[in-house]
Amino acid sequence: MSALAVPKSRHNGTSPRAMVLADFLIATAAVLGFVSLSRNLLAFARWSHAAFLRKPKDLRDYGSWAVVTGATDGVGKALAFELASEGLNLVLVGRNPGKLEAASSELRKRHGETVEVKTVIADFAKLRGEEITAAMAGATEGLDVGLLVNGAGMAYPYARYFHEVDRELMESMLGVNLNAVVWVTKGVIDGMLKKKRGAILNMGSASSMYASAYPLQTLYASTKAFMAMFSRCMSLEYKEQGIDIQCQVPLFIATKMTMLRSRPMLVPSAKMFSRASVRWIGYECQCNPYWSHAVQGFVMHALDAICVWYIKRYMEWMRREGLEQHRHL
Ligand SMILES: NC(=O)c1ccc[n+]([C@@H]2O[C@H](COP(=O)([O-])OP(=O)(O)OC[C@H]3O[C@@H](n4cnc5c(N)ncnc54)[C@H](OP(=O)(O)O)[C@@H]3O)[C@@H](O)[C@H]2O)c1
Repeated sequence: MSALAVPKSRHNGTSPRAMVLADFLIATAAVLGFVSLSRNLLAFARWSHAAFLRKPKDLRDYGSWAVVTGATDGVGKALAFELASEGLNLVLVGRNPGKLEAASSELRKRHGETVEVKTVIADFAKLRGEEITAAMAGATEGLDVGLLVNGAGMAYPYARYFHEVDRELMESMLGVNLNAVVWVTKGVIDGMLKKKRGAILNMGSASSMYASAYPLQTLYASTKAFMAMFSRCMSLEYKEQGIDIQCQVPLFIATKMTMLRSRPMLVPSAKMFSRASVRWIGYECQCNPYWSHAVQGFVMHALDAICVWYIKRYMEWMRREGLEQHRHL
């Protein structure tokens, strides 16, 4: 009697087939959960190693000169100083002769014993593609260029809708963020191919990476999406030729572009960012070198819908502030 009662209460009226199905679903969910957890733990372990423990590449192995665009301010300038402290000679590219001279004399003062500095004046908003390539090829002729940093970039002065972007701003943005990257790269890649050594760092942006849209900075985010794709494709094309191509996709950095103040946990200074940046050059074809940016990017990606909603609200507020300031100029 009691032997008969056990299966009845265990099955609780459920058919054996349904029990098997339930067991199968539970086991599948457990395996999938385990695989997903293991993958995330592995990704976290890999990222921690890369961010904090991995030995940076000796950038001089690529060649003794680095070309840096956007070297007169912000990230490009900070990277130039970081590269000089690694012992690389520099070709600084900028549009403003006074700022170029100031940056190069500061570099010579600090690293004059160990590094050489050359400058190239080029306004990417005004030059045509072939002119940019010719200027780069001319300036680097005979130099052992191992590294190119495509650091020049611009965003709208303040957030705005697409129809509010005037022709001049539109052309400048496409010229600096998109055209220049392609034609500057064309100007140096032949030299790298000849020696089968080199690295290219393209400064992309999180705006095209973690959130599925970045409204009111549409052109900016779209040019950066181009840069990310350009870098991924180029990386595959040239890896076997000894050229490491990478796109870094930072979030906010305290520079003239953002007009934000540095807050180490959220917004690094250009110097803090560039220190992290050089540690990653030559490794993954896409990365986010500053640790708290990587964490913020992870959260943005996980909360995409909320994040895009928030970006739109924030940008609309930025637009109102920008318009207000503009009115008082
Ligand atoms: N700051 C951020 O939060 C952030 C986040 C993600 C990605 N990024 C990217 O990082 C890169 C550097 O940004 P940043 O924040 O350092 O900006 P920044 O402080 O405004 O510096 C931009 C640099 O690009 C140069 N540049 C601008 N227009 C140019 C033109 N027409 N021709 C030649 N050079 C020109 C600037 O020259 P002048 O000195 O003459 O102005 C300056 O050297 C950009 O590609 C940007 O998109 C920045």
